[in-house]
Amino acid sequence: MANIDTNKLSWDEWDELQNPPPAVTDFDRVVERAVSRRGFLGGVLAFGSAAAAMGTLGNLMSSTAAHAQGMSGRFAFKPIPIFTDSTVHVPEGYAWKPLAKWGQPLFSGVPDIDPVNGVSLENSDKVFGENTDGMELFVIGGRQVIAVNHEYVNNETNLPHNEKGMPKSADDVKILQNLQGVTVMEVAEGKDGWEIVLDSPFNRRITHLTPMKISGPAAGSDLIKTAADPNGTDSLGTFNNCGAGKTPWGTYLTCEENFNGYFGSTDPNFAMPDDYKRYGIAAETRYGYEAFDSRFDVSKNPNEPRRAGYIVEIDPSDASSTPIKRSALGRIKHENAAVAVARDGRVVVYMGDDERGEFLYKYVSNGIYVPGGDTSRLLDEGTLYVAKFSDDGNGEWLALTPETTGMTPDEISVFTRQAASKVGATTMDRPEWVAVNPIAIEAYCALTNNSRRGEMKDGKLRANAGGDEMALNAVNPREKNEYGQIVRWYPENDDHADGKFKWDLFVMAGNPDVHNDAYAGSSNINSGNMFNSPDGMMFDSTGLLWIQTDGEDSNEGDFLGQGNNQMLAGDPATGRIERFLTGPKGGEVTGMTWSADKRTLFVGIQHPGAPFPDGEGKLPRSTIVAIRRDDHALVG
Ligand code: FEO
Ligand code: CA
Ligand code: CA
Repeated sequence: MANIDTNKLSWDEWDELQNPPPAVTDFDRVVERAVSRRGFLGGVLAFGSAAAAMGTLGNLMSSTAAHAQGMSGRFAFKPIPIFTDSTVHVPEGYAWKPLAKWGQPLFSGVPDIDPVNGVSLENSDKVFGENTDGMELFVIGGRQVIAVNHEYVNNETNLPHNEKGMPKSADDVKILQNLQGVTVMEVAEGKDGWEIVLDSPFNRRITHLTPMKISGPAAGSDLIKTAADPNGTDSLGTFNNCGAGKTPWGTYLTCEENFNGYFGSTDPNFAMPDDYKRYGIAAETRYGYEAFDSRFDVSKNPNEPRRAGYIVEIDPSDASSTPIKRSALGRIKHENAAVAVARDGRVVVYMGDDERGEFLYKYVSNGIYVPGGDTSRLLDEGTLYVAKFSDDGNGEWLALTPETTGMTPDEISVFTRQAASKVGATTMDRPEWVAVNPIAIEAYCALTNNSRRGEMKDGKLRANAGGDEMALNAVNPREKNEYGQIVRWYPENDDHADGKFKWDLFVMAGNPDVHNDAYAGSSNINSGNMFNSPDGMMFDSTGLLWIQTDGEDSNEGDFLGQGNNQMLAGDPATGRIERFLTGPKGGEVTGMTWSADKRTLFVGIQHPGAPFPDGEGKLPRSTIVAIRRDDHALVG
């Protein structure tokens, strides 16, 4: 690590550095079953019941029926080529404009970021935070409010006068803490396009310091009590907010991913509790909070890291509301939260745990969602499940209960990864976002890549931190999977609450110009649409799947012809995938939402490595861009 500036790395890259993959790659061990099982698109119509799903799902169709009728998948744009430059490109007839940039004020009287000195402590919780990620738009009393995550900060750019950006005081730590978390902001479309509504009563920053409640099975548990919170019910802050979700009752779900990176030890002799290893909690940190804020020093507050790693529910309609950590949804490195309503009205939340060899989860509420009814316990009382994929195209959801795991309910909520290991879940190639099709009963998960899939070390298969081996299987079929794939599942009985499903791969990313084996990708990948490392995913209201990437953008070697990170649209009915947007060099495209009238698409650009969006000589700034058609037609 000596010659690498770790401040310039994304969280995923940082994670790779902590546990570097093996240097030697054996490409000869490509798995035949990946390409021979039934083809990646040919099997679609063979799955699922042909019966249309009715009842509480209204006009939703089974995935088979929707695909057969070709309801989804209109490409209203001319696909664009790759780019390797420093800006955003969109198709002909579309234009983009920045909506919100890191350090931009949310309130009047607050200055824009100083390109030399950064954001002052005083203003650090009054500006748009850094590194935009998942977002959702809410219509509240006719006004449009975006809730958006700020996943992490680059120390160096926020503490520019400190060596490697490491904090030298409690105030330095507070600046970093304030520039992460969540922004809630009202937006409006004026004659110059979309802008933040300064001083809106909805505008709010939620940071690493914001008071929040803990609910569900972990609340009150000895596992999470601290000296500052002897009841185990009140915590401070939300961390490493990655993807997001939205409930049918109009709240925002922000997902805590690599929370482990904020907790360290000032005592080199501190004996780390056994459960830390599974989550990667270690003595050394990237931020150095622990030196000045003892809450983050595990040698003084060993339970504090167990109070992070949750999904947090936020009411965007009330800037004074207290966010709630919903522990019933488990403690993992949460990517996003894709919410569906089952046939009987129960609430289903699909969730990926983004780490090599970790799992895909589902929560099903006990109670049912009734519009206008009491929703306060729907995310507290329910059952957590983890996915097991069989190579024959079947799958099942394994319940995590005291009976199946031998663990207490609070242990299942706090040590969720360990619980899932006990029931034999399938190790996955880093589950990122899940997306639920709004017009067909099916869901998709981006499996971004897995440098260690199928690798041997010391005569044994590589495993996750819990020892679950990452053998090749049909859903994760490639050794040293550097391109990623998207898995799709069809719940049995056309019901997201059902315990069984059928699955197939919607796409295997790859490079058909460089490879002629499984690394070329599935048949819907070609020279003109190739990409690597699918990550962000959402459906638009027409049933088109939008895919964002967070991958290798060298445009060399195995990645030649793939250019910068990008955003594509996929048609579930045909498998066709076309490129819609490319991002600036070094940046990740992540997070999307639509305006109420669906005439604007908002897209996040995280950690640009080039002077985006303001051009040469200017500070690179993580930015949400607003994209409209020149003719103001619908964009989703
Ligand atoms: Fe924050 Fe797994 O991406
Ligand atoms: Ca991501
Ligand atoms: Ca990623």
